[in-house]
Amino acid sequence: MQACGLFQLFQEGAVVSMVNPFNPYYPAEAAFFANRRREQEWFRRGLLPSLRPESAGPWNAAILGPWGIGKSSLVRRLRELARETEVPPGVVVVGCTTGYGSLLGFTRSLIGSMKEEMLSLAGWSEAVRTELERWSVQIQLPGVALRRGQRQAPEEAANVAELLRSTLRRYWEQILEPAGKTLLFVLDDADLLQVMDPNALMILRAVFQDLHMYRARYGLVITGPSNLFGEVREVAEPVTRFFEHLPLREFDLDDTTDAVRHPLQQVHAPIRVSDEAVGWVWEQSHGHPYFVAFIMRDVVDEAMKQKWDRIDIEHLQKCWPYVSAHLETEKFLAEWTYATPAERQILQALATGKHIGEGKSALMSRLVRKNLIYRIERGQYAIYHPLFAEFVRNQAE
Ligand SMILES: Nc1ncnc2c1ncn2[C@@H]1O[C@H](COP(=O)(O)OP(=O)(O)OP(=O)(O)O)[C@@H](O)[C@H]1O
Ligand SMILES: [Mg+2]
Repeated sequence: MQACGLFQLFQEGAVVSMVNPFNPYYPAEAAFFANRRREQEWFRRGLLPSLRPESAGPWNAAILGPWGIGKSSLVRRLRELARETEVPPGVVVVGCTTGYGSLLGFTRSLIGSMKEEMLSLAGWSEAVRTELERWSVQIQLPGVALRRGQRQAPEEAANVAELLRSTLRRYWEQILEPAGKTLLFVLDDADLLQVMDPNALMILRAVFQDLHMYRARYGLVITGPSNLFGEVREVAEPVTRFFEHLPLREFDLDDTTDAVRHPLQQVHAPIRVSDEAVGWVWEQSHGHPYFVAFIMRDVVDEAMKQKWDRIDIEHLQKCWPYVSAHLETEKFLAEWTYATPAERQILQALATGKHIGEGKSALMSRLVRKNLIYRIERGQYAIYHPLFAEFVRNQAE
């Protein structure tokens, strides 16, 4: 089977071109985005108005949830919503990665992205534009990049805070405020900043709070796993209070209906999906957005090849052997291969409901970090998805 592409369907003699709108490899495009109404409403009514100069100060948000639940997709949608406002703020979206080598390296990149976003905003006079471009070469960055794995010295953490604070303040006072413009920073996968420097979120909070003192209207949205704050609670409880928490959960049946039908409507697909078929997709995927997208991508691919104008349970059952083999090769096999023999034993035990003995906490933590299991409550764990549990049960050792 081919991945997403342009296909031609024949309907009543006419040739209809159609693109497969499902793609599990990237965050959902704004046009194919489904659900998350509560979060979108909060952005529209709370976060975006809070960026306006007359507000009491920007609201900050932490979009939290496990891998593939839709954090980056929601960030993309937020960007669209910002563009739809009367006076659109600039939205600086940065994917966090340890590839920056240090928090300083990250900060440098963040400032670069900020300048790009500002330059892309409409309405600058030629003088301001020239000034902005000139600043882009003027900024002096303290310190040198760290080698991989090297710990950031405390004075460099201070440099990070100083660099960010002074640059953002300068941009605010000299360029953004006089022009009546505001910016929203979105740091996707902010947990990776914590890997480079365990104080990263503390530093960000301190900088953004200081900027608030100067009435700067910079909003801050971060995304990360559900335990992003859990791990820092003892040392950095104030950080958790600095953000409105937006936990993302799996889709319910109505959400899944929307996630299945909305993208097809958007591409004017001449394919109807029955209620029973949607229910079946929901049961298999457990409403996990990644799996909904994966299953639908393959099923729609097949529908286009076979020229089905309807997808019903029989069609799904026909496709399932292929979809499930595809899931194995695309995802499960790699996860299984990278697990150590001891980790596999734990996975087998969890998948078959066997008792896991004492003294396994280090192993369990490693499996949680690998996103293969999640903690239900103290000492109780489950495999991240029933489809992976089924795969694990089928791996006779
Ligand atoms: N609201 C949505 N509407 C439609 N599809 C979605 C939505 N949310 C997620 N998806 C689908 O699920 C897949 C995973 O979503 P996304 O990449 O946004 O998750 P994530 O939480 O950022 O994952 P990670 O933790 O791996 O970065 C996407 O490829 C997309 O197809
Ligand atoms: Mg993501």
